Amino acid sequence: VPAKWIDDTNGLSRRSFLRMSGLTAMSAGLPVKSSGSAAKAAPTMIGVPFEKMEPALGIIGTGSRGTLLLRILLELNVKVRAVCDVLNEPVEVAQTLVEHAGQAKPELYSGSVNAYEKLIERDDINTILIATPWEWHVPMALKAMRAGKHVLLEVPAATTIEDCWKLVDASEETRRHCVLLENCCYGYNELMLLNMIADDRFGDLLFAECGYLHDLRDLIFSAKTGGTWRRDAMTKRIGNLYPTHGLGPVANYMRINRGDRFDYMVSMSTPAKGLDTYRKQHIAAGDPKWGEHYVTGDMNTSLIKTVNGLTITLQYDLTNPRPYSRINSIAGTKGIFTDFPPRISLEGQRDEDSWMSIDEWKQKYEHSLWKDSHSIAKADSDHGDMDFVMLRRTIQCMRDGLEPDIDVYDAAAWSAPGPLSAASIRNRGNSMDFPDFTRGKWRTRAACNLTRLG
Ligand SMILES: NC(=O)c1ccc[n+]([C@@H]2O[C@H](COP(=O)([O-])OP(=O)(O)OC[C@H]3O[C@@H](n4cnc5c(N)ncnc54)[C@H](O)[C@@H]3O)[C@@H](O)[C@H]2O)c1
Repeated sequence: VPAKWIDDTNGLSRRSFLRMSGLTAMSAGLPVKSSGSAAKAAPTMIGVPFEKMEPALGIIGTGSRGTLLLRILLELNVKVRAVCDVLNEPVEVAQTLVEHAGQAKPELYSGSVNAYEKLIERDDINTILIATPWEWHVPMALKAMRAGKHVLLEVPAATTIEDCWKLVDASEETRRHCVLLENCCYGYNELMLLNMIADDRFGDLLFAECGYLHDLRDLIFSAKTGGTWRRDAMTKRIGNLYPTHGLGPVANYMRINRGDRFDYMVSMSTPAKGLDTYRKQHIAAGDPKWGEHYVTGDMNTSLIKTVNGLTITLQYDLTNPRPYSRINSIAGTKGIFTDFPPRISLEGQRDEDSWMSIDEWKQKYEHSLWKDSHSIAKADSDHGDMDFVMLRRTIQCMRDGLEPDIDVYDAAAWSAPGPLSAASIRNRGNSMDFPDFTRGKWRTRAACNLTRLG
């Protein structure tokens, strides 16, 4: 196993090692150690609400995503006290945006990859939003929680199992929340489906299909920072690099970490051809990008089994021509919903073999978070309004002292298919176990808050 892959598989459970056909853990270059022992763990964060608080934010990473989130937060009148980016230009833009919203000029931190450490130390900030490239998520989140701040973290939370555990351990030890900003959980259809599932429209759930299928080749090869770090990851990592957009909503439908949990998964990837093909067509000879070797297989397919026996297919492709889709399909004993475009087929409502529109269900099942948001949301992003709905709800949870909808246990479980897919691929698609990040609490935990909201 090349050294560069080893970090993908840190902290895999012992059962997973033993399942690897023809390989001992030692010969596979994997560290034989256990993580997340319940015996030495601090008390759980399950059931722990935010203390009632007015959020005062520091934002780290003011690139494309950080700026979009900042604009929404300003609409929501959230105090932003400090902004940080390793680059000067984007962080100055962020500073100006805050001032233009009528707030005091936020302190600016820039010029070095460690400038964020000073921001985290500020005592006029209680929450840190992290929208940096993936490699920075965990070190920044750990420092923030250890400094007593709650964390709002972009996706995926972590890229190794060991780092997933570090987030869980730190949240429990510091009693700070680490909220995953998985915006797709707040999409119109995703939230409406929670109401339909709660009303037994699909019967017993059995199977979901989901994924992140987004032709990002232009961005990946752009001169923007977002191109550089994404391409860099694709020279180092294999498997599904972006599992949470598809998996988060499905996890909520299936009550993952709340009565069920991910048990094990298998994964396979196609060869990596999309970026090479694009480079031949668009990148001039002599460009340094010709020195890069892309290893992430274009189309990754994983199959996940839950402890209660449900199954999920999880797809990934960022590097080939195709329309955008997260698939977002859920099927049970009474019917099926599939998205992109949305369509439904329910027992008793079926028109033989045709799919039906979801429009007739909207009045009855539209989620309260969307009912509230229609009048004030601004459709200024290519994700529709779900970013607005997510942030509005997250800030409300802080202001009203509620438990977050998506906590550190979800962040860890939904990010885990990144490293687990890599490990499975390297072992001919053999199955890899998910750790139980909740340390057994999934058995008794109530349905997710979004379901209970209705
Ligand atoms: N939820 C979504 O829909 C969604 C969409 C896009 C991106 N994202 C996530 O948001 C994050 C950022 O993505 P992006 O597209 O905005 O990338 P980006 O490159 O546009 O922005 C990242 C910013 O972080 C800065 N940065 C890098 N290292 C830093 C450090 N050590 N300290 C401070 N700043 C640092 C960069 O200079 C850059 O401005 C990623 O985790 C990505 O997966 C989520």
